[in-house]
Amino acid sequence: MTRKLEKFVDMLPKMSVATPLKKDNHTAYYEVTMEEFTQKLHRDLEETKLWGYNRQFPGPLFDVKQGEPVDVKWINQLPDNHFLPVDHSIFHDGHDAEVRTVTHLHGMETEPDSDGYPEAWFTKDFQHVGPFFKREIYHYPNHQRGATLWYHDHAMGMTRLNVYAGLVGMYILRDKREESLKLPKGEYEIPLILLDRSFHDDGSLLYPNQPDNASENLPNPSIVPFFQGDTLLVNGKVWPYLEVEPRLYRFRLLNASNGRSYQLYLDSGQSFFQIGTDGGLLRKPVKLDRFTLEPAERADLLIDFSNYAGEEIILKNDLGPNPDPEDETFDVMKFKVSLPLSEEGTNNIPKRLSYIPSLKGNRITAHRNLKLTGTTDEYGRPLPLLNGKKWADPVTEKPGLGTTEIWSFINIMGFTHPIHLHLIQFQILDRRPFDLAHYNETGEIKYTGPARPPELNERGYKDTVAAHSGEVTRVIVRFAPYSGQYVWHCHVLEHEDYDMMRPYLIID
Ligand code: C2O
Ligand code: CU
Repeated sequence: MTRKLEKFVDMLPKMSVATPLKKDNHTAYYEVTMEEFTQKLHRDLEETKLWGYNRQFPGPLFDVKQGEPVDVKWINQLPDNHFLPVDHSIFHDGHDAEVRTVTHLHGMETEPDSDGYPEAWFTKDFQHVGPFFKREIYHYPNHQRGATLWYHDHAMGMTRLNVYAGLVGMYILRDKREESLKLPKGEYEIPLILLDRSFHDDGSLLYPNQPDNASENLPNPSIVPFFQGDTLLVNGKVWPYLEVEPRLYRFRLLNASNGRSYQLYLDSGQSFFQIGTDGGLLRKPVKLDRFTLEPAERADLLIDFSNYAGEEIILKNDLGPNPDPEDETFDVMKFKVSLPLSEEGTNNIPKRLSYIPSLKGNRITAHRNLKLTGTTDEYGRPLPLLNGKKWADPVTEKPGLGTTEIWSFINIMGFTHPIHLHLIQFQILDRRPFDLAHYNETGEIKYTGPARPPELNERGYKDTVAAHSGEVTRVIVRFAPYSGQYVWHCHVLEHEDYDMMRPYLIID
């Protein structure tokens, strides 16, 4: 347990919006620099050393329109050595000392050379780029439907550390349909990036190494199987508060934590509406009292404070029936309904939101059974894998361009894994429980109940799906509009780095 920090003493920061350096025809050109800097994360905490985009944590907010492409030059100006415990000896390619980065825009439909392939990393010195590095300026077409996307580091083998150091940001893509709905906007539309971190007494970030009893010659000791920070942050502040008017607000939530999942509700007991998910608006608003947000998932919410003037409402995180009494992460942030009601704004909750054609009618060209399994490495450390394969094994998933497949994630581990596919927004078909003990004995799937349809708030486009332990989670995916090599992986970053990530190839 690191030091305890008082809750709700800092205001929720407003993220600054990224501004393009120039605009040609329709393409806006941005430059974003990754640098080391310090930032105040809590009133009582010394400034914390971080890595961020444009010296901000989280990075600048992209706010862009459908049909207006964006070019970004991601520039690595990070120091030569990581301030977190990375062991460069795992890299056998002669670039030991330089810090690698590559940026992935999560949820964006783009060509492989702008996707942030983990091995397309580059260092501060562009001469030393890796073999997969194809272009310096990434191109984002923005032709897909409006959605809350996000960008983060994706460098091979050190994503967990680069992201933990601060390399995350949000990217909002808007379309005409959404605009016509007259949802709350401007100061009534607020991004909320949920993160967890732990701190040393001096304010620096704490990320664990292997336990002391681990073998002394352990390579890459910062490969831990799982990590959760003991302190929650929103938009880069520890347990912040936000002053709101007694009216309807729109909040775009993103779980950008390495491994923590949240079970969110409001302590006022009020319900709220989810209007969007990873891939944009749902068909219609879904009324909720609580919901789960796994790493990398997004939830677009409408919360109505109209009846709560003068009150304080805490966004809570349910820790389950027997939480550790030391665990302070049951609070996320506080809303103070203390501002006078202004004239502008809207309290309109639309009945219908968007049109989402079901993929179920498509001809299915392949069904793939993909096991989420684990083994141990030669040092006895857990090594979670996708279908028993490591990153470096040859590509096994090769869908054809424009074809539709059903992928079944068979989770035989005792843990929920949020599975993410690059490039595409898919749909969840169902989840079906099976007998885990029976599977472990016989290797056979014996179902113990019927298939459950996805939750109401999952019935839109998704790019990340919670695959629960002892269940087969099926998604239907149309592989388009580009061909080439992408990746799919668990979005628990400690799993992704070691070694729950696989390349996949869309064949033209
Ligand atoms: Cu959000 Cu491959 O990642
Ligand atoms: Cu995982």
